[in-house]
Amino acid sequence: MKKSVKISASLMCDSFRHLEKSLQEMAEAGIDLIHVDVMDGTFVPNFTMGPDIIRAVKEMTNIPIDVHLMSLTPERHLDTFLSCGLEYFSIHAETCFPLTRSIQMIHSAGAKAGIALSPATSATTLDHILSVADFVMLMTVEPGYSGQKLVPFALDKIAVVKEMVVRQNPHCEIMVDGNVSFEYAPQMVSAGADILVAGTSSVFKEGLSITEGTEKLRKSICSNRG
Ligand code: DX5
Ligand code: ZN
Repeated sequence: MKKSVKISASLMCDSFRHLEKSLQEMAEAGIDLIHVDVMDGTFVPNFTMGPDIIRAVKEMTNIPIDVHLMSLTPERHLDTFLSCGLEYFSIHAETCFPLTRSIQMIHSAGAKAGIALSPATSATTLDHILSVADFVMLMTVEPGYSGQKLVPFALDKIAVVKEMVVRQNPHCEIMVDGNVSFEYAPQMVSAGADILVAGTSSVFKEGLSITEGTEKLRKSICSNRG
């Protein structure tokens, strides 16, 4: 029986009008991780949150933090984010040249190290390095913005990476990020996803409370599980 799928709520999709209340509702809804998207305006043409927001969130909730760093020079920022005390930390293979050393630094800080891939980056990029990663973070939309549509080949790519994980590092989790909707979530899980980064298509869906969106997402996964 597949172990239960974790839900990481994408904080950038919250309205930020009542952050503490939102975090409380996420905890009551059983959200497993808080996904913090950090963008430097160069790797992606957008800015979002930094270490101060992470520290503030940690004061308001005990839900573990999952940082997704989208930067052209991730190795320059590792200490800054690791000093915030986070549990999951993903950096993009496309821009992190000292990837092995960066993963070692994340491990030395006691966090789980994730290798993030944008949709068009081949899964073969993970060969060898997969053996030292705690998770792979597969973008199913172009990084940079919430509310985008799933890239068509993204589901196939999850299945390809799942096969690589089974062969090279069965303990490695697969995190999927982008357009995690009630329709796509079960397909993502069937393809091999262990952690779903949920944003505007589910947990923060227009017209639903966080509780309702989370419950509907969990139901969509359970009812479709093979
Ligand atoms: C985009 C971020 C995602 C995004 C998800 O670069 O990495 O976490 O916020 O938003 P939705 O769920 O709306 O695609
Ligand atoms: Zn993200």
